[in-house]
Amino acid sequence: MVEKDEVTTGMVAWGRRDFGNPATTSYWEIGIVLLPEWRGRGIGWRAQAMLCDYLFAHSPYPRIQAGTHPENIAEQKSLVKAGFQLEGVIRSAEFRAGRWRDGYLYSRIRGDVTVPIDG
Ligand SMILES: CC(C)(COP(=O)(O)OP(=O)(O)OC[C@H]1O[C@@H](n2cnc3c(N)ncnc32)[C@H](O)[C@@H]1OP(=O)(O)O)[C@@H](O)C(=O)NCCC(=O)NCCS
Repeated sequence: MVEKDEVTTGMVAWGRRDFGNPATTSYWEIGIVLLPEWRGRGIGWRAQAMLCDYLFAHSPYPRIQAGTHPENIAEQKSLVKAGFQLEGVIRSAEFRAGRWRDGYLYSRIRGDVTVPIDG
């Protein structure tokens, strides 16, 4: 994903989703994971901002969304720095470690402010 002396630091993923009619409601959902030694060094938010630029440039879809856990402060901050906005709480989104847990849903829309990654 980010190469420094050709070192792999992690990966991003993206997939097309829709709200029922692919022709009129398609959007992207993204995810990211960095290897532990590369976290907290400014790579995560930049990678997600760059991925948004790439997806908006190479597809017509107007919306990119990302979900995260309420306890994942790093990803929440990373998404906001990458130009995402919190849309809301997805109640009982996931069964994990013995109980149903809420999720946070973020999105970035085509036309939202582009984020310079050299800042
Ligand atoms: C979540 C993740 C992608 C964030 O990327 P990152 O490179 O570590 O984070 P960044 O260096 O870009 O930091 C972005 C912001 O988060 C903050 N941050 C980073 N790690 C943090 C932590 N552990 N706790 C609190 N804030 C943190 C940074 O300080 C920065 O905010 P600031 O500019 O206000 O200081 C990365 O940590 C990761 O891969 N984690 C494990 C996998 C994961 O959780 N993926 C997302 C699943 S939804």
